Amino acid sequence: MYLGIDLGTSGVKAMLIDADQTVIGSASSQQVATTRPHPGWSEQDPAEWIRATEEAIAGLRTAHPAALAAVRGIGLSGHMHGATLIDADDKVLRPCIMWNDTRSHREAASLDADPRFRAITGNIVFPGFTAPKLAWVKANEPDIFAKVRWVLLPKDYLRLWLTGEHLSEMSDSAGTSWLDTGARKWSAELLAATGLEERQMPGLVEGTEPAGTLRSDLSARWGLGDGIVVAGGAGDNAASACGMGTVREGTAFVSLGTSGVLFAANASYLPNPASAVHAFCHALPNTWHQMGVILSATDALNWHSRVTGASAADLTTELGEALKEPSSVTFLPYLSGERTPHNDAAIRGAFLGLGHESGRAVLTQAVLEGVSFAIRDSLEALKSAGTRLSRVTAIGGGSRSRYWLQSIATALNLPVDLPADGDFGAAFGAARLGLIAATGANPTDILTAPATAETIEPETALTAAYEDAYQRYRRLYPAIRAAY
Ligand code: XUL
Repeated sequence: MYLGIDLGTSGVKAMLIDADQTVIGSASSQQVATTRPHPGWSEQDPAEWIRATEEAIAGLRTAHPAALAAVRGIGLSGHMHGATLIDADDKVLRPCIMWNDTRSHREAASLDADPRFRAITGNIVFPGFTAPKLAWVKANEPDIFAKVRWVLLPKDYLRLWLTGEHLSEMSDSAGTSWLDTGARKWSAELLAATGLEERQMPGLVEGTEPAGTLRSDLSARWGLGDGIVVAGGAGDNAASACGMGTVREGTAFVSLGTSGVLFAANASYLPNPASAVHAFCHALPNTWHQMGVILSATDALNWHSRVTGASAADLTTELGEALKEPSSVTFLPYLSGERTPHNDAAIRGAFLGLGHESGRAVLTQAVLEGVSFAIRDSLEALKSAGTRLSRVTAIGGGSRSRYWLQSIATALNLPVDLPADGDFGAAFGAARLGLIAATGANPTDILTAPATAETIEPETALTAAYEDAYQRYRRLYPAIRAAY
């Protein structure tokens, strides 16, 4: 048996798989609270992650005691970029500053203006990334900065608790702005530019390699054996890719969660920071990936649902089954700024082209189209970074809307595959990494793709109308940007 633990933004999910990768069961914790003490801030207490992990494991222990007792390897996945600051006694110095915290946008811009960051990391220094957060702490909380002995990513703080080791792996570390992404090692030069030294960073392994052994007191408490290997694991997007088998060149997925991600696996390192594409290491050796990230995907529909007082499901049902031609209304989904392709923390969303006839369904249609066009922007960004895709697989809560999938297929002009029923998310990917690290199995033998249940083809009768609407969408960002 192998155990995957995914530290999500809203809670922890733990999943058990057997040696044939059959899912035995999973359990989730209660919500982990996010605090927002000031506009743009987003923090979590790492003690809550431990509480949530204990809860999820207790859930598995109740439902599947024998399977849990047979676990031989554990894999970790987690939300990326968070700054978890640890002192010399391994005590947490302040709440974790999360991936969606934008307080350090000034520090991000000033680090990004130092050409070494883009050259070495292959990425823009985004406000959500880790290095600008440390620059913010240095300037605003100097007493805390002086005590920082370790800077850990969220799932690597869980590893510290699970194993006592200060270790990380390449996929999550690529989101710090301190990794030499092509060479897969820390950049002493970039760390020095933020007042840090390499000794403050965890040691690095590949996600498929062992990175610690479960502490015997935890093994005993959970009814597990001794010597249980904890794999390097992965940041949540790379972990989902491991779950989906998105590891070979040319494979890709679009994830419609709170945020939206277009993720493509690459056999080589293909950075293109100018297009705001993320170029990160993948969780397996000698593999990289590119990713376009949009900050509001299902979040845009949820916002529309709050404003109209209708549930997201009712709103999408109201559209009917057949894809419609875009109306005169365009929606820009920049409710919390945008990463790809604009790198603009200050921009906000908009409805344009409203008329007396624009009712609720027309607005819903525009919201779904706006997110589809934002993903098309990411596809164009990936193209400019050398990636050509011939199809994508859809995952995440938004993929339950058929209308949305047709809209995405038509906006991207690519077939969209829906995986056969099952849970192929980050917890499953993490469990697979636990299996590989514990058994030494060949990663590509294990990280295979699920069967496709159905393929949604672009609506060819509407591709020209969609293209026109997309070109209009593209013209609106610079216009809105100039107006504010
Ligand atoms: C990726 C990113 C998010 C978080 C959310 O760059 O910021 O996908 O990992 O969990």
